[in-house]
Amino acid sequence: MKLQNMNAANPIGVFDSGVGGLSVLHEIRRALPGEDLLYVADSGHAPYGDKSRQFIEGRSTAISEFLVSRNAKAIVVACNTATGAAVTTLRSRFFMPIIAMEPAVKPAVEHTKSGVIGVLATSRTLAGDNFVKLFARYGEDVEILGQACPGLVEQVEAGDLSGDQTRLLLERYVLPLLEQKADTLVLGCTHYPFLAPLIQEIAGPTVAVIDSAAAVARQLRRRLEVGNLLADRAEAGTECFWTSGEPGKAKSLVSQLWQADIEVCVLPD
Ligand code: DGL
Repeated sequence: MKLQNMNAANPIGVFDSGVGGLSVLHEIRRALPGEDLLYVADSGHAPYGDKSRQFIEGRSTAISEFLVSRNAKAIVVACNTATGAAVTTLRSRFFMPIIAMEPAVKPAVEHTKSGVIGVLATSRTLAGDNFVKLFARYGEDVEILGQACPGLVEQVEAGDLSGDQTRLLLERYVLPLLEQKADTLVLGCTHYPFLAPLIQEIAGPTVAVIDSAAAVARQLRRRLEVGNLLADRAEAGTECFWTSGEPGKAKSLVSQLWQADIEVCVLPD
């Protein structure tokens, strides 16, 4: 285990298999306006959903090492798939707050009136221990329908948030859940909030579409508070971005999703 960088003025490191974690970064920025944020998109290796656990562990560890080398005081695993595959390893290797994703099943169970909720996620997330535990915990009270969504991460990585191909895939995944009376849809992959307007349009106004990005940002804030690690400054924090993918493509995609003209650096090997 490594002791490191526990200084309140240091930045927060955030990573995902690609650009999906920017949906979490938006909520972190809202919750913590004064913090400096580092973001790594591992787009050169996305999607993680079809990779082995060892591969995802290796990538998550290497990226965390990189964030620590940039003085990160906390790490947010802004990826449900990496959470399932690697968070235990990361917590045993790095002595710092490691905040991870959990699909918003609990709020969905509290919200549903029909007693049926749908969870959209990668197959790896749905098969992982975390989800199996959530299912065991809440599955007695309500019917939980897990829906794997192959192809959706790729659509978001391509910047296609509303085209015909994306709509077709979403109809294929969402309509069967509605037919089974789901009135609440959980987005269990951090790429999917960028598709939320289209999902809502397909599902209709009476269906709730929820994700856990805001809850993760609140949890990060609590962990920093408890550790006396909140940045004590009035001015706005900064953001720095790295990608393992093609930097030109990353620049336009991150700028589209972050809604600003962004520079994206190449992640060192
Ligand atoms: N954003 C990742 C997640 O939350 C996508 C996983 C993948 O790359 O397959 O699961």
